[in-house]
Amino acid sequence: MKCILVTGGAGYIGSHTAVELTNAGYDVVIADNLYNSEISAVEGVRKITGKEVAFEQVDCLDKNAMEKLFKKYQFSAVIHFAALKAVGESVEKPLDYYRNNLESLINVLSLMKENRVPNFVFSSSATVYGQPEELPATETTPRQKATSPYGNTKQICEDIIEDTVNATNGTMSALALRYFNPIGAHPSALIGELPKGIPNNLMPYITQTAAGIRKCLSIFGNDYDTPDGTAIRDYIDVTDLAKAHVAAMVRLIDKQNKTPYEVFNIGTGRPFSVLELVEIFEKTTGVKVNYRITGRRTGDIEKIWADTSLANRELGWKAEKSIEETLLSAWMWEKHLRGL
Ligand code: NAD
Ligand code: WQD
Repeated sequence: MKCILVTGGAGYIGSHTAVELTNAGYDVVIADNLYNSEISAVEGVRKITGKEVAFEQVDCLDKNAMEKLFKKYQFSAVIHFAALKAVGESVEKPLDYYRNNLESLINVLSLMKENRVPNFVFSSSATVYGQPEELPATETTPRQKATSPYGNTKQICEDIIEDTVNATNGTMSALALRYFNPIGAHPSALIGELPKGIPNNLMPYITQTAAGIRKCLSIFGNDYDTPDGTAIRDYIDVTDLAKAHVAAMVRLIDKQNKTPYEVFNIGTGRPFSVLELVEIFEKTTGVKVNYRITGRRTGDIEKIWADTSLANRELGWKAEKSIEETLLSAWMWEKHLRGL
C-alpha cells in the first residue's frame, strides 16, 4: 500500500482529504502541529474510515522532527496543506506568514529529495489570480501581484515547487491545485471547518449567525458590477475538493502527468453571489440568516469563478455536489458543534 504524508492533515481540507485517501486504499500519515486544528479532527477521520490513521504531532519548521518522520515511514508522496491562511492576519504579521509557509515548504521539499520521495501535491489558491480580466479563470490566466503576504506566499511557493522539480531530471513531480472557495463539511458531520474566534470567511459566518452565535452577518458591499451588486465566488464542496487530491495522487503515482510541474483549478465553474448563497442557505435549511449590507471589505475582488475543464479532462475529476447539499452539510456541522 502506498503511504502518503499529509502535512496539515488535522486541518479543514487536510482532514477531509485524509478520509478520501484512506477510503481509496492509501495509508495516510497526518503530520500537524495543531496550531490551527484539534486532535478531534484526527479522531473524526478515524471514526469515518474505521482505520487507525497515523497521526504525528510535528511542526514542519522543525527540521529534526521532520527528518525523523521521513525515516520512520517510507512515503510515496506528500500532500502539503500545512500553512497559515488568514489573509488579514498576514498583513499584520507578514514575517510569521513568510517564515511558516515558505520554510515549511522548503523543509518538506528538501526531505523529499534526500529521501527520494517522488510525488508532491500543493495547496495553492485562486487568490493567485487576483481579479482576472477575463472570466472564468483558466490555469493560463496571468497571476497578478498579490494583495496580501498570504497570497504572496502561495505565488512564491508555486515558483519554488516548479524550480525544484525542474531541477530533478524527472525524479520528482508536483501538482499545484488552485482551490477556489472551499465550503461545507463531511456528510457524517464528524469533521468540518473549525474557525478560531470570529470567522473571516463567509460560510462559517453564515452558519454561526444562523446558530445565534453571531448577531448579524455583514455583507461586504452591494455596489459591485454583478447582477445583485454583491460579490461573486466559486464555492467548492470540501468533499469534492478532497476527492480532487485522490485524482491528483493517482495521476502522479501512475506517472500520467505531462510535465514535472502541473497546475489545476479546483472549483465548480458555478458562480454564486453572496446574497444568492444566503438565500439558498435559508431555503435549504429553513433557518433565517440575519444580515445587513455594509461597505466593501478592503482587498476583496468583485468576481471570480473557475474554468475547470483542464481538471475535468486531465484528472478525470469533477465537482459533484449541489450547492444545496453543500450548504446543508455546513449547517449539519455547525449544529453538531453547538449540540443543536
Ligand atoms: P487549516 O488551518 O484548517 O489547516 C492547515 C493545517 O496546517 C492546520 O491544522 C495547522 O495546524 C497546520 N499547520 C500550519 N502550519 C504548520 C506547521 N508549520 N507545521 C505543521 N502543521 C502546520 O486550513 P485549510 O483551510 O485546511 O487549508 C489547507 C491549505 O489549503 C492551506 O495551505 C491553505 O492555504 C490552502 N487553501 C485554503 C483555502 C481555504 O479557503 N480554506 C483556499 C485556498 C487554499
Ligand atoms: C467570500 C465572499 C466577501 C465574510 C478567502 C481568501 C482566499 C481563499 C479563500 C485561501 C466575499 C463576502 C465574507 C463576511 C461577506 N483562502 N463576505 N461577509 O475572500 O473570496 O477568499 O478565502 O487561499 O485567499 O481571500 O472568501 O469567504 O472571506 O468571502 O460579505 O462576513 O463573501 O466579501 O465576497 P474570499 P470569503
